[in-house]
Amino acid sequence: MGDTAKIGIGGSTVELPVLKGTAGPDVVDIRKLYSGADVFTYDPGFTSTASCESKITFIDGDQGILLHRGYPIDQLAEKSSFLEVCYLLLHGELPTAAEYAEFEHNITYHTMVHEQFDRFFQGFRRDAHPMAIMVGAVGALSAFYHDSTNIDDPEQRMISAHRMIAKIPTIAARAYKYSLGQPFVYPRNDCSYAENFLRMCFSVPAEDWKPNPVLTRAMDRIFILHADHEQNASTSTVRLAGSSGANPFACIAAGIASLWGPKHGGANEEALNMLKEIGTVENIPDFVKGVKNRERLLMGFGHRVYKNYDPRAKVMQTTCHEVLAAVGHSNDPLLKVAMELEKIALSDEFFIERKLYPNVDFYSGITLRALGFPPEMFTVLFALARTVGWIAQWKEMIEDPSQKIGRPRQLYTGAPQRDYVAVEKR
Ligand code: ACO
Repeated sequence: MGDTAKIGIGGSTVELPVLKGTAGPDVVDIRKLYSGADVFTYDPGFTSTASCESKITFIDGDQGILLHRGYPIDQLAEKSSFLEVCYLLLHGELPTAAEYAEFEHNITYHTMVHEQFDRFFQGFRRDAHPMAIMVGAVGALSAFYHDSTNIDDPEQRMISAHRMIAKIPTIAARAYKYSLGQPFVYPRNDCSYAENFLRMCFSVPAEDWKPNPVLTRAMDRIFILHADHEQNASTSTVRLAGSSGANPFACIAAGIASLWGPKHGGANEEALNMLKEIGTVENIPDFVKGVKNRERLLMGFGHRVYKNYDPRAKVMQTTCHEVLAAVGHSNDPLLKVAMELEKIALSDEFFIERKLYPNVDFYSGITLRALGFPPEMFTVLFALARTVGWIAQWKEMIEDPSQKIGRPRQLYTGAPQRDYVAVEKR
């Protein structure tokens, strides 16, 4: 018998099992609490609640550690490729050369979308935010690929995972091209995943497009950095949507909706806007004063889980310097503002006390801008990369025999039961 936790309520004591993971804090299993003591727990924002068991990603926020299937993110960013990380997240192990070749082939040969699907884009206004298009278009995939929506069939689950990973760059690039009024570019099977995406975004039929290996590698690394992050808001949304048995395409659309918010995936756009607003290094002290007076947040700083430097932010900072050098923007004034702001914030008592460190979004805005993307596309790129994490977590949940529909409880503080009053008597 392992450890137990005892909770005393109303004169009686309930004993609850304590579960141990391979890493991270133990968890008190409260599943029998309601039947044993007739009480719920209360944890809005899930600050102390593990919503599921998972083998995919581990974060130690105090140490600044992020592992995918046990492998540290910095090693994956340096030595692996996005598609290999996709395989790892989905299957649990790094692929052999033959497994990788088959996986790459499967993804490459699913990148096209149904021709009729392209008509969806025409229905949006040209000034639609590309995330609005993503929410609609990705949800619409369930109307096109009926042969991979039976969630009880393992083969269909895997095909839907491949389809999502393969088609999301094509859809994201179309959302971008539509906003520019440029023709859609079809995927090419002789390009790598990242190169294909950059090509679909930046090439035009009027001239040849040459890939830049530094930028392609940077794009691939940015995808790796965003591939999964355990039970964050959008991933929990995907799991909750999927727990009712909804098809995977609809679940990923729900995840994209959740990611859109400025406190989650929208933060990179906000961080860049903030740097632009500050403009020059001289304006930083005034800005920091405003943050300390709680007039605003320092976007790209702070994290619910990391109370240390976000390990992804370190890789992103290096990538940022590489990309700026490759496009000849090493003297970008916004980079100067970002580096000085980081220096000041990391030595200021207000931020130290609250354990506020740069997160992955602090440098990603400047990097993505240098790659050629407008701010409205930043969250779309995040959604593209996170799709594999969402689908891996969704698949893990469906394959868990103890899985139940997600149905939280509440602390009701509304009116007690009362009788209906006719309108003339109110
Ligand atoms: N700037 C200034 N103060 C901050 C910031 C910030 N970015 N983040 C937190 N704080 C302060 C809070 O005001 C609070 O202060 P208090 O204790 O005096 O009241 C304290 O730090 C703790 O903050 P919480 O809001 O309790 O932290 P929480 O875990 O709820 O929030 C969050 C995390 C939402 C990410 C927050 O730090 C934030 O809004 N950051 C800016 C947005 C951002 O960069 N988001 C990207 C997250 S990473 C990602 O999604 C990929």
